[in-house]
Amino acid sequence: MATFQARRIRQKYAKLFGCKDAPRYPHKGPIFGLDLFFDNQEHAKTFTLLETWTTRFEKYGHTFRANFLGSSAICTIDPVNIQVVHGSNFKDYGVQPLRRAATLPFLGEGVFTMDGAFWEYSRNLIRPTFNKTNVTNLSAFEVNLKKFFDLLPRDGSTVDLKPFVCRLFIDTSTEFLFGESMNILAIKSPARSQEFLDAFHYGLRGTGARLQLGKLDFLYRDKKWRDSIKVAHAFAHHYVDKAIQYRNNRLAEDNSLSSKSYKTDDARHKYVLLHEMALETGKRDVLRNQIMHVFLAGHESSAVAIGNAIFQLCRNPDMWNKLKSEVLDREKEPLTPDALKNMRYLQNIIKETLRLYPVASTATRIAYRDTILPTGGGADRNSPVFVPKGSTVMTPVYAIHRLADCFQPNPNAFQPERWEELKPGSSYILFGWGPRTCPAQNMAEMEVAYTLARTAQEWENIECRDEVKEWVEELRLSTSSRNGTKVGLVWASPQEQN
Ligand code: HEM
Repeated sequence: MATFQARRIRQKYAKLFGCKDAPRYPHKGPIFGLDLFFDNQEHAKTFTLLETWTTRFEKYGHTFRANFLGSSAICTIDPVNIQVVHGSNFKDYGVQPLRRAATLPFLGEGVFTMDGAFWEYSRNLIRPTFNKTNVTNLSAFEVNLKKFFDLLPRDGSTVDLKPFVCRLFIDTSTEFLFGESMNILAIKSPARSQEFLDAFHYGLRGTGARLQLGKLDFLYRDKKWRDSIKVAHAFAHHYVDKAIQYRNNRLAEDNSLSSKSYKTDDARHKYVLLHEMALETGKRDVLRNQIMHVFLAGHESSAVAIGNAIFQLCRNPDMWNKLKSEVLDREKEPLTPDALKNMRYLQNIIKETLRLYPVASTATRIAYRDTILPTGGGADRNSPVFVPKGSTVMTPVYAIHRLADCFQPNPNAFQPERWEELKPGSSYILFGWGPRTCPAQNMAEMEVAYTLARTAQEWENIECRDEVKEWVEELRLSTSSRNGTKVGLVWASPQEQN
């Protein structure tokens, strides 16, 4: 009966909108798509999953249907489809059925996992702060950056930069999100910070396992995971309570927050996201959940981007020298946001890094209603494709960023120069696309640019010391280089040894 009804709907869409079937992934078994599931597991184990997806699109076309463990899925890297799913038909799709249940005990409900009215509410809580003119506080960032430089060897010995850059961004982001740095760049980092980070990462790992289990997530049982969540929540509550105190003080000062006098864009104000959110709501759990979501989304993405940029720069001395010349030519000017934006080669390096190594490796949505993708169906693969309610629409970002139609010449090569002319539109979705685009894009771009410009000032040379020359994927919440970024540093000024 259900199949009959489904066929009727499909026929209606074919007649009304000219929908035709997209090619089908050649599953080996008839049910559940288990072959694809196990194939993905195998490639994940050998760290070749991203390449495998890219090859699948080369073989089966830019849009094809598949079975994801019994659910109907459409895999697409067609930029026209991306524009519709993530942009113009945004409301037909969502993330909540994919993300909410598995992440609920750890994160609660918040901006990253919800759709509809609650997502809009969450977005309105966090977005205004990211829009403030001076939210990217480069002088505060410089304080942390100096500590980062101080930790690195000056004798040319090999160092893996990856964990150090992560520490830099954890300190920077906690200062902005919670109001206090975790200070893990300190030689002896506070035990409390380390306890939170361990708990947070364990919480994240368990949540990842639950996401993989999908509807069977109740099978995941681990006391350590439950305990880690308690530790992470207690840490967040400590800062939430301070934020509520801040709210109460401001209320007392302003007499009434409803006067909205607090909603200024003050260039001298040091913004703390939790404090700004607390001016909108004093609800403890809402604040804790939202800040956990933003910390999750933002605590390592910029660090990963910088690690990947240096991974390429230490393999391409000509590019490193070109970057250095651009930065040193303007050494007398302060590194303001405008100055950084005007360094074209620096900007091109960042764009090219995030093209080849997008931090978020897939963009996946579930259709909330019967809907249509504009292209990918029929023999010529140009006809609209019917998307039944409940289908997964999945885009591997790594694959779309290597589309031969959009990124010529040599889509797989690291070539910052290509950005002199390139305007890729929806084939380039490093920060997402449409209303759900990363709210921190400007801040992240600025901090990544600032860090790279400062490395060009501080380091004369970076020697590649990786045993493995190729970039090997590590798929966690963000996609990074599995082998880190091992380098030998030659400093521009051979000052004090540490
Ligand atoms: C280079 C750095 C970064 C990259 C490449 C990046 C990329 C992304 C992408 C692709 C998404 C969309 C995910 C989706 O489609 O569901 C996203 C969402 C988000 N990002 Fe970022 N991000 C970066 C840094 C940050 C930072 C530093 C923060 C916070 C301090 C942050 C906070 C968020 C939040 C809260 C969302 C969820 C938005 C929503 O669902 O409405 N991101 N980011």
